[in-house]
Amino acid sequence: MSRTAVAILSTENLLHNLKVIKGKAPQSKVIGMVKANAYGHGLRSVSTRLERHVDMLGVASIDEALILRKIGVQIPIILAEGVFEPNELLVASTEGFHVVFHEEVQLQWLANLSCPLPIQAWLKIDSGMGRLGFDIDKAPGFYDQLSQSRQIAQPIRVMSHLACADDPDNPLNQRQIKAFNDFIQNISDQSEYSLCNSAGVFQYPTSHHHFVRPGIALYGASPILGKSAADLNLKPVMTLQTSLIGIKEMTKGSPVGYGARYTCPEDMRVGIVAFGYGDGYPRSAQDGTPILVNNTRCKLVGRVSMDMIAVDLRSCPNAKVGDPVILWGNDLPIEEVAAFTDNVSYDLLTGVQNRVKFHWTRYLNNTTNGL
Ligand SMILES: Cc1ncc(COP(=O)(O)O)c(C=O)c1O
Repeated sequence: MSRTAVAILSTENLLHNLKVIKGKAPQSKVIGMVKANAYGHGLRSVSTRLERHVDMLGVASIDEALILRKIGVQIPIILAEGVFEPNELLVASTEGFHVVFHEEVQLQWLANLSCPLPIQAWLKIDSGMGRLGFDIDKAPGFYDQLSQSRQIAQPIRVMSHLACADDPDNPLNQRQIKAFNDFIQNISDQSEYSLCNSAGVFQYPTSHHHFVRPGIALYGASPILGKSAADLNLKPVMTLQTSLIGIKEMTKGSPVGYGARYTCPEDMRVGIVAFGYGDGYPRSAQDGTPILVNNTRCKLVGRVSMDMIAVDLRSCPNAKVGDPVILWGNDLPIEEVAAFTDNVSYDLLTGVQNRVKFHWTRYLNNTTNGL
């Protein structure tokens, strides 16, 4: 028998989360963010499930977008980091990809090429995050340059990204919203705008504009500090499951695992679980990280190994080899796990490795009504 590690993925929960997002931003079109292998859930399988229900898909670069075209995904796809070299503009033009322009050199590349079809363009402005995007004082000039280019489909759209939307108390949110609003006030009425990621969808209804760009909320993790996914009516798409492959009767004072980080405080049973950092479990997980054995909450003990972790079975006395173990997902929110690590739900999800088998559950209920 091969390794039992499996990521069980729920189409139903994915579409449920999309419905929740649409309910929060009913006037906006939705760009479903599927970059980074759909946050670790599988670029192709997530995109084909979302395709009929979103207006656009969002990827980081053209190679991800081309994979989607290759499997027949036809809806618009936005390249969130734009093009990385001039020739990609030609491909974007023929494939109808939406291109984010955030650097002057990208405009120079455009000026030196002859694109077969006008490019769908977005101008990215840096409203305060200090990452990608034109500085707000220089952005009007670049907006004009794009507007005047015969290679660009009109109107140009405008986007920016919020740095702290997960933290409603952070004053940068309002500064960014104001900077974005000030900018769009002075440009064409025909244009379309996008500012909000998942957290923005829930926090800033007056800033939803024409397009929202949810990522993490689609996958059922909370985008907001201090709020659980359940508080927001989001359901986990991924449940990470494996099994107990060993049980040890340990005596008081015995060490567990590499570095002997954990010492048994009393005679106790310790379960060995077939999942480690080589599968994507965070090596930074501390003693006490919650783990479900037979749906009962137990605690991680000892350092995470490449292929295994150990779990304190005192709260699950009848556990036996072969019993199911859930690391996050249904009944164990990923944020709770992340709180015991140096990680956040984003990097836990994107970190799940190839050797874990991915199984999508069959879609049974017709909950897409109203999507
Ligand atoms: C430009 C852009 N828009 C939207 C998103 C989605 O963000 P979230 O996953 O927080 O919803 C991201 C994610 O990093 C992004 O970089």
